[in-house]
Amino acid sequence: MLTSLWRRMSKRRAPIAKWELSTPLLRWTRDDAWMLRDAVEGTLILGATGSGKTSGSGAAIARSYLAAGFGGLVLTAKADERALWERYCQEAGRLDDLLVFAPSERADLRFNFLDFELNRTGDGAGHTESIVNLFANVLEVVERNSGTEGGRGDESFWRRTNRQLMRNLVDLLALATGRVSVPDLVRLCLSAPTSSAQINDKGWQERSFCFHCLKEADRREKSERQKHDFGIVADFFLLEWPNLSDKTRSVVMATFTSMADVLNRGVLRELFCKDTNVTPKAVEEGKIILIDLPVKEYAEVGQFAQVLWKYSFMRSIERRDAAANPRPVFLWADEAQLFTTSYDFQFQSTCRSARCATVYLSQSTTNFYAALGGGDKGQNEAHSLFQCLNTKVFHACTDKTPEWSASLIGRSKQLFANGNNTYSPEDNMNAMLGLPVFGPVGHTSAGFSESYEYEVQPAAFTRLRTGGPAHGWEVDGIVFQNGRVFRGSGRTWLPVTFRQRH
Ligand SMILES: Nc1ncnc2c1ncn2[C@@H]1O[C@H](COP(=O)(O)OP(=O)(O)O)[C@@H](O)[C@H]1O
Ligand SMILES: [Mg+2]
Repeated sequence: MLTSLWRRMSKRRAPIAKWELSTPLLRWTRDDAWMLRDAVEGTLILGATGSGKTSGSGAAIARSYLAAGFGGLVLTAKADERALWERYCQEAGRLDDLLVFAPSERADLRFNFLDFELNRTGDGAGHTESIVNLFANVLEVVERNSGTEGGRGDESFWRRTNRQLMRNLVDLLALATGRVSVPDLVRLCLSAPTSSAQINDKGWQERSFCFHCLKEADRREKSERQKHDFGIVADFFLLEWPNLSDKTRSVVMATFTSMADVLNRGVLRELFCKDTNVTPKAVEEGKIILIDLPVKEYAEVGQFAQVLWKYSFMRSIERRDAAANPRPVFLWADEAQLFTTSYDFQFQSTCRSARCATVYLSQSTTNFYAALGGGDKGQNEAHSLFQCLNTKVFHACTDKTPEWSASLIGRSKQLFANGNNTYSPEDNMNAMLGLPVFGPVGHTSAGFSESYEYEVQPAAFTRLRTGGPAHGWEVDGIVFQNGRVFRGSGRTWLPVTFRQRH
């Protein structure tokens, strides 16, 4: 009797599937939970340096992801981020899941990104384009750093010609050797003919790796598709490329080789161009891959490494079968503007179905404008990206971010008191934000007026507490989620206080 009752009860109490979209990850306040559904819609944390992004909302979110068993990719800007994540993982009992990708003195993981692209399952048709896109992503960062972007007149012409070169280099190598590697791509590029006369020169034919590849690709047995590809490749190297003007050819070539050169030497060659013992697939099994080549220390090399990882991760996650393996994963980037490329927006729009929770931290909106090319284009792309990161957490900030945050939250009909208000100190934050004040109510000395005003005044963002002993180890933030009304405030935004651990 008892046994059958127990059986019936256990049946009724069947465990909730671990990663339901309605699984709560953390509570902003007692009444407002933040669920997996919210997390996979992306998060943007903005605040000035020292405002509490890392130790406030960042720490709360990171801990919640680790506690829930997420896998993830962590990009790093500062040297102390590895220690920070080691601490988070230790606290969550996940130290075994942390994989640190770093130069050989400190780790032994390797990732040959080209092999990964080429060996992934499925039809080969998309491989060349994937590799070209991958390089184009890295190139975007190179051009941004060198300030050449947009400075050469017809930008689309240069981009197009660059992509055309890369596409033909990859195709020719694949057709001739069946493999694609960075050193061979560079060799091929440097040995391509620069004039029609050269093509007929026996001496050049002997020396040129490009010519050898053309001969080998021609000789090999090819499928119908490969025959077609070879026709295009041969036309490109034997007709188009030598007939470009010297100036155009040398600029396009230099753009490619300067990027490939960075990949082809030192740390990056060792980490990315040899064997593979870790790939982005590991995150789907719950691993947390931390790229310990912080940009502040490794500069451009660090940036390349992280952009490569980020792009490979994005492409891999987009292709995942989230129905078969629903484990959520995260993409974490502090100083996110350093790693932003125009592909981010596209990725964000598919993140939800791929169950990937992106968290970007940065000082200001303007950082992203500059990173995405500046001007109207940069601004528009940045705003499209912001729109796709549905939860925003604002910490104390200055420059233009408070105006943007205030206008995002919006305006509403506000009652204004024309006079002096006094509030008790413990309700400062609510009073400042125009929310109900609990405890002894302040008094108002004169009348009221009505007007449409910012719900949260820009100035309020500059007064949020930033933690440390001066603020009792408390960090204030304002959480905003488009389309959500928080119970704690009755609005689309919610003041939240985070406790720093110390
Ligand atoms: N674990 C901690 N405990 C107490 N104070 C901290 C801790 N970490 C950082 N702080 C202090 O809190 C403030 C916010 O730091 P931080 O979260 O690193 O800001 P941000 O990431 O926005 O630059 C700084 O004044 C910093 O010195
Ligand atoms: Mg920080």
